[in-house]
Amino acid sequence: MSEKDHRVSRRQFLTYTLTGVGGFMAAGMLMPMARFALDPALKAGAESEFKYVCEVADLTEEPQNFPFSFDQVDAWYESEVQREAFIFLRGEEIVALSPTCTHLGCTVNFGTNEQYPDQFYCPCHFGRFEKDGTNIPGLPPQRPLDVFEVKVEDGSVYLGQIIQRT
Ligand code: FES
Repeated sequence: MSEKDHRVSRRQFLTYTLTGVGGFMAAGMLMPMARFALDPALKAGAESEFKYVCEVADLTEEPQNFPFSFDQVDAWYESEVQREAFIFLRGEEIVALSPTCTHLGCTVNFGTNEQYPDQFYCPCHFGRFEKDGTNIPGLPPQRPLDVFEVKVEDGSVYLGQIIQRT
């Protein structure tokens, strides 16, 4: 073979270069889309694990706020997630409510409104919920507070996924 056979023509060089650059740019555009498509599946896996929150002995019949945190790995990014739950005893059952108001997402508190000491109160738009999380009709929140999955093991309370109520 002569040296001329190994030479890359100007046309071939441009074709290879443009194909390479085009492929690189296409990958750059498609990667975020692929990540958005897969992210819910990754999150669902992470959220399905139960996290330790407190001891059963700490619980009373009045809802108490228990903050808890856990590490979450999202692809290459690791972060500490902060959560809180209102947990109380209803007979033998343990109830864990999300403190996120179902109107626009403010944080509710229990017993902070002097007029309604047995209810959850949201200061943002004066939303109220019964002790079991049921929304009071005629106020901004249109559905009950969400609940956590609860698991008890050796006297310890673990919370899992948040279940949306309608
Ligand atoms: S955010 Fe709670 S009442 Fe509006």
